[in-house]
Amino acid sequence: MTFSCIEPGDIVLDLGSGAGKDVFLAARKVGASGRVIGVDMTLEMLSLARRNAEKFKVSTGIDNVEFREGTIEDLPLEEAAVDIIISNCVINLSPDKPRVFREAFRVLRPGGRLVVSDIVLERALPPKLKADKDLYAACISGALLRGEYLQAVRDAGFQEPELLADRTYQASSVQGDPVTGEAADALSGVAASITLLARKDR
Ligand SMILES: C[S@@+](CC[C@H](N)C(=O)[O-])C[C@H]1O[C@@H](n2cnc3c(N)ncnc32)[C@H](O)[C@@H]1O
Repeated sequence: MTFSCIEPGDIVLDLGSGAGKDVFLAARKVGASGRVIGVDMTLEMLSLARRNAEKFKVSTGIDNVEFREGTIEDLPLEEAAVDIIISNCVINLSPDKPRVFREAFRVLRPGGRLVVSDIVLERALPPKLKADKDLYAACISGALLRGEYLQAVRDAGFQEPELLADRTYQASSVQGDPVTGEAADALSGVAASITLLARKDR
């Protein structure tokens, strides 16, 4: 994830906030005049994140984070409610990624920014790997092809996405991993980790 786009005073939304790691990093950047909202659909993660929020408040003295239950396909926010949306390794898990980008566009204010780190595929996976549940949990088999992913961002209404980071995994980087290691040769050069920035017109 990159946090360099976040300014003091921003209202930030984290899609699929998990235990809240990125929410707390963003909360330090926006400071007491800003706010960070994490959305997640898993009750266990929300409860862990809310416990972490109490610790964050005690250690920093800043009370600017909130965790909401909901799905990233149907966000629990009003339209034009936030300045910036972040997300790390979550959208690839969604069964309806175009809808996630449309929802992100709806809740961003005009001039707002979407900054997303995610996995995309350089070519289609063989059917056996596409159906592999462990590879889905590893954020690979649910991922879209790169071109489809970027087109879904454009189709939602965003300006042309800019790639801030782009790294394609080679066999050597997945070989030692217990989930991806077995399929290392088939996966080589297939999955890429990207961070994109896309703006909503003013
Ligand atoms: C791989 S974890 C990433 C967590 C966090 N972004 C991080 O980087 O530590 C994925 C998180 O996304 C949540 N998630 C997955 N699909 C979701 C959806 N459709 N709507 C809301 N949350 C979702 C899961 O509950 C989980 O907490």
